[in-house]
Amino acid sequence: MEDNVFSSDTDEQEYSHEVRLRPENFQEYIGQRAVVKNISVMVESAKIRHAAMDHVLLSGPPGLGKTSLAILLAKELGSELHVISGPAIEKKGDLASIVSDLEPRDVLFIDEIHRMHISVEEILYSAMEDFRLDIMIGQGTSARTMQIDLPPFTLIGATTRSGLLSNPLRTRFMANLHFDFYEHEDLEVIIANNAKKLVIEVKPEALGKMAECSRGTPRIANRILRRVRDFMLVTGKELIDDIEVKKALEMMEIDRYGLDSMDRKILSVILDYYDGGPVGIDALCATLSEDRNTVEDVYEPFLLKEGFIVRTPRGRMITEKAKDIIK
Ligand SMILES: Nc1ncnc2c1ncn2[C@@H]1O[C@H](COP(=O)(O)OP(=O)(O)OP(=O)(O)O)[C@@H](O)[C@H]1O
Ligand SMILES: [Mg+2]
Repeated sequence: MEDNVFSSDTDEQEYSHEVRLRPENFQEYIGQRAVVKNISVMVESAKIRHAAMDHVLLSGPPGLGKTSLAILLAKELGSELHVISGPAIEKKGDLASIVSDLEPRDVLFIDEIHRMHISVEEILYSAMEDFRLDIMIGQGTSARTMQIDLPPFTLIGATTRSGLLSNPLRTRFMANLHFDFYEHEDLEVIIANNAKKLVIEVKPEALGKMAECSRGTPRIANRILRRVRDFMLVTGKELIDDIEVKKALEMMEIDRYGLDSMDRKILSVILDYYDGGPVGIDALCATLSEDRNTVEDVYEPFLLKEGFIVRTPRGRMITEKAKDIIK
């Protein structure tokens, strides 16, 4: 098995700045009320039954708190959390050995589960449904299936694109919880809490401005807060106000709608190059020289949600609202 199958290390490195700001308990986990409510009931039920919690699929755009929630719920269950990345598992045997090493009631978190190879994924069908591994041994006429019992465990799948999950896999999750972009008020609370953790003081209007430009995403809110803190330190100020926020946002090329340079590039390409659309996703990505998955997972959801683009059967179109702001 490759070391990189376990994504937790690389995640921690890539987002090491985030680690300290991860919510440490459910009180610090702000917003996503519907998801949290569902999870709380499932956690309580598992505790009462003294059994493994049901399998859950967490879906939604990046940076909205899927991994953070998985960490919290394992903690709440008092279970060991094992984090792996779907696309990093290359062979059936790798996944088989991971699930057979689990202890009863452990939580297995598979990130980017929609990108797991289909042949690897098949291991999960009986593992999830019957806590059993079906393994084929030998070939041709001597081939036979061996069954290995597994301890009851909880699978948490995280995906930015639940639509790409195969049907057999999707139907084996007892709950499919979808994460939405955060409301401004929730982001303000998150930023205020994290400012406290970073020991910095923020004026209310600066808080509002940061929340407004965070694309409804706590990860981006944290990123802005850190940058603003840098400005504060450099200018020797003790209190963050609008000016630091404005400077940081300018430096990050984030406009007052929360759009970054790539968002604006997408909009101007549709407007200028394709006359406002409709344009097919492949043509659009080719013009942008950008990977289709990135455009669909990272950029589009926010542009759609804010009504800057619409999807039609013939492709993406820019809206009047977007035309007004990128002129
Ligand atoms: N509900 C929340 N309350 C407070 N902070 C949050 C919340 N959700 C996310 N965050 C913050 O945002 C950061 C990113 O969240 P997280 O890594 O859980 O997102 P994700 O959905 O797993 O993203 P990806 O799809 O990219 O893996 C966390 O480290 C945390 O600081
Ligand atoms: Mg994650």
